[in-house]
Amino acid sequence: MVGVPADGVDEPASLTMRYIGNKTKLLPFLTRVITRLGIQPGVAHDAFAGTAAVGRALKATGWRVHSSDLMTYSYVMQRAYVVASTVDQFDALAAAVPSLGASFAGDDSAVRQNRLAAVSRYLTTGVAPLDGFFAQNFSAAGGRMYFTDDNARRIDAARTTLHEWRERALLSDDAFYILLAAVIEGADRIANTAGVYAAFIKSWQSNALRPFTVVAEPPIDSRPDCVAHQADAELVAQAVGPIDLLYIDPPYNTRQYAGYYHVPELIARGWFSGEVSLRGKTGLIADDDLRSAWCSRRDAPNALRRLLDVTGARHVLVSYNSEGVIADADLRAALRDAAVDGKVRRFTKRYKRYRADSDREGRQYKSDEVRELLYYARLR
Ligand SMILES: C[S@@+](CC[C@H](N)C(=O)[O-])C[C@H]1O[C@@H](n2cnc3c(N)ncnc32)[C@H](O)[C@@H]1O
Repeated sequence: MVGVPADGVDEPASLTMRYIGNKTKLLPFLTRVITRLGIQPGVAHDAFAGTAAVGRALKATGWRVHSSDLMTYSYVMQRAYVVASTVDQFDALAAAVPSLGASFAGDDSAVRQNRLAAVSRYLTTGVAPLDGFFAQNFSAAGGRMYFTDDNARRIDAARTTLHEWRERALLSDDAFYILLAAVIEGADRIANTAGVYAAFIKSWQSNALRPFTVVAEPPIDSRPDCVAHQADAELVAQAVGPIDLLYIDPPYNTRQYAGYYHVPELIARGWFSGEVSLRGKTGLIADDDLRSAWCSRRDAPNALRRLLDVTGARHVLVSYNSEGVIADADLRAALRDAAVDGKVRRFTKRYKRYRADSDREGRQYKSDEVRELLYYARLR
């Protein structure tokens, strides 16, 4: 499988989407720092949730999590990995889809856990491939080599089936989002890209030739009171009020996520409620409302100050990268001004840059080592 871009972790975790800035591999570092600072589990806001990896890990360690992001696919993952708490028994679905129901027959309570896996298998191979809107636009036949024709039709079929099941009220909300997250991640594993969707590759990568699979993950049942938000971090911080921990992991550079992940965004939104217009060689969707101030050298420092102003958090942790658009001095100054004691601490983790992406982008870097930085301030 091809690697993730330079400013993310160096290689994809098994099922998780390849995502710039995905913190899956840095979770041990983050949790060590939280422990070292003596911060006890309470209410946290994972303000730039992306794949929801951080909110999910916080939930698993006893935190009540609010998470937020601008993107729809992130909202889907927040719902699947942070909000969802129960495994659906799929009784209504089994009654409506007899061939699926038959595969549940005679199961006892232990095997009932496997119903999620059976439904995932059904979405992988039980539904007939569909030559619908997605397949016609994001396949080799459609002129955009993001997926092989067969895989594009299978993704189309799985997403369309989920839409129909939801319309017919055959799935709980939790089940819908868990399965939709699995479709997005299954598509990502076989996408013919270098890790982001800004371009497809003009010859088939080995991962793209593998068959599409849906592998749904059972939810964490520890905290049934977590909340997902699809909204700007600042607005959500204001709305959630007093909390224990704000975790800030914003975009680091000028690349807008909306343009880099339009394919997962389209799968998350679906294409069933009116015409979707696609632009250009890569099939971009309208994204004017998704442009982030955090990707702008001019606006990001003020966005940080505004977020620190409105949050009701007692502690703040900021993940940042040594090559980010906010200079170290500006970041420290903003945190210092917001801190109750005027102090800022910084923890560092070094990791290797993934070479292929930096070469593809034709950018110049001083070294192959990037430092992931974690800043801490006590706010009240
Ligand atoms: C570095 S990534 C976060 C990665 C995440 N921690 C993970 O492990 O997957 C930054 C995220 O910020 C989101 N974002 C950008 N501007 C935002 C804003 N104003 N409010 C909320 N989220 C925003 C992007 O969509 C992207 O998912």
